[in-house]
Amino acid sequence: MKHKLVVANWKMNPGTYKEAERLVKSVLEYGGKDVVLCPPFPFLSIFRNLTPPRRDQVTLGAQDVFYKKEGACTGEVSVGMLKDAKVKYVIVGHSERRELGDTDEIVAKKLRAALEGGLTPILCVGETERPKTQDKGLRKEKEFVRKQLKGALPPPRRGQGDNELRLIIAYEPVWAISSRSGGVSDTPESASIMTRFIKEVFAELLGGPSPAKAGSGHKEPQVLYGGSVNGKNAAGFLRLPECDGVLVGGASLRPSEFRKIVETSRNF
Ligand code: PGA
Repeated sequence: MKHKLVVANWKMNPGTYKEAERLVKSVLEYGGKDVVLCPPFPFLSIFRNLTPPRRDQVTLGAQDVFYKKEGACTGEVSVGMLKDAKVKYVIVGHSERRELGDTDEIVAKKLRAALEGGLTPILCVGETERPKTQDKGLRKEKEFVRKQLKGALPPPRRGQGDNELRLIIAYEPVWAISSRSGGVSDTPESASIMTRFIKEVFAELLGGPSPAKAGSGHKEPQVLYGGSVNGKNAAGFLRLPECDGVLVGGASLRPSEFRKIVETSRNF
């Protein structure tokens, strides 16, 4: 059975190296390959000092990456640098980065650079608003997300099955991110619709068979839900068969709450 993935996006937190070390230490008590920590860049070095078997208690991710390999790009960090720091995953196209200027085109370049360089990108997509008069089919939300996926995913290459793309997609409705919503998440019902939709669009854009055709040998991307996930509501998302894990912001900074989410993920 494939484990559900729990990704911690610490954003620009915590304030000091010492606090970051404390957070890492608490995760090492129960972590595993299914737990990905994405700290701010300066804290990546904490993981360098970990030796096996402790190092295997956690997988390292980054919150962003630049698409160029090296050169005059002040403030940026390359795929090669992240790999050298033992990073395996990288978040690309988070809504907070998009707000700071990452266009679909930039997101596509970052995604491509990560894929070509051997990092597994976690591509974030999600609508900014949920219309007041909610359409049960989530038509507007789907339109929005389809456009983001179309803008970011590389065109299929001849002879390359989409199953060769090691890619994770996180459905994060922007309005449900805790800093905006005050901790109100999307419902598992809507997350289920959107997660399935993302898998369908992925197959369609990359020329693969529909995920509905089970047993076709086609490898779907893992799709996570993110947006105000906490210890109480995590089970609602994690129990969905089409939801392959969660992306956790605020609650990943609260040790007992994060532990609860990880333990919950292992029940499904
Ligand atoms: P949240 O953040 O869990 O605090 O809503 C999720 C994210 O923005 O990745």
